[in-house]
Amino acid sequence: MQGTELFRAFLFKYYIKIKFYDIIYIMKESYFENLIKDFDNYVFTQTQQQIFEYAQSCREKFIPCIREKTAKLLCHIISKTLPKNILEIGTATGCSGALMLLSCLSSNLTTLDVSEEMCKMAQQTFDKYGLTNRAQILCDDALNYFQNANSTFDFIFLDGPKGQYIKYLPYLKTVINGGGIIFCDDVLYFGMVLDDSKVIHKKITIVRNLREFLNLTQSDTEFETKLLDIEDGVLLIKKQ
Ligand SMILES: C[S@@+](CC[C@H](N)C(=O)[O-])C[C@H]1O[C@@H](n2cnc3c(N)ncnc32)[C@H](O)[C@@H]1O
Repeated sequence: MQGTELFRAFLFKYYIKIKFYDIIYIMKESYFENLIKDFDNYVFTQTQQQIFEYAQSCREKFIPCIREKTAKLLCHIISKTLPKNILEIGTATGCSGALMLLSCLSSNLTTLDVSEEMCKMAQQTFDKYGLTNRAQILCDDALNYFQNANSTFDFIFLDGPKGQYIKYLPYLKTVINGGGIIFCDDVLYFGMVLDDSKVIHKKITIVRNLREFLNLTQSDTEFETKLLDIEDGVLLIKKQ
């Protein structure tokens, strides 16, 4: 082959390769782009609104509960993807769990919290809204649960201790079903994860662990990811 032909063949090969990766990239982007489109317009039902107001009142008493935009995103995704089995790490008062169950009436929830007090409060929430039969509360440490887990899930809401997400990662990979979504809350941790100047010294380990979690999930070829800078930061992960 002549030099110019070789050069043309080389360009063609890499042009095709670049286009191929562009297409894959656009496909990956568009999955989440399409899924979360207009999530802000999600309208809570009357019951969901009551639960959300309860979550707000808990937050005022310093009980950590889901915020508005994150709640709408969560309910929107559940209502679009209709997961059969949901796992929640970090039950607190049961607000996010109840909101999820009311976004898809065919879903079942396994939710766990290390705090007995939280588990009791969550039970009251599920009882109050007639969700008891669809919600299983486990009072357990999340890592202990993962080490012994023998169930798999279509959707995981990861909202437990932020510094531990990295330890859960190998287990998340096996517990989530193919095509399932992991919704990770608070991954930007009060802005500290993206901005060194905001880091509080005593939180440095949590920040480092979250950065590692973001790096590993976003570079994992088994995952498609989308990082959203809403409220305390949400990372969406889809297992291929
Ligand atoms: C941010 S709150 C969950 C909020 C809840 N998902 C909501 O939106 O209403 C985090 C919860 O994780 C629980 N938690 C902390 N460490 C844990 C652990 N090692 N295993 C399980 N749960 C844990 C806390 O007790 C707390 O209730």
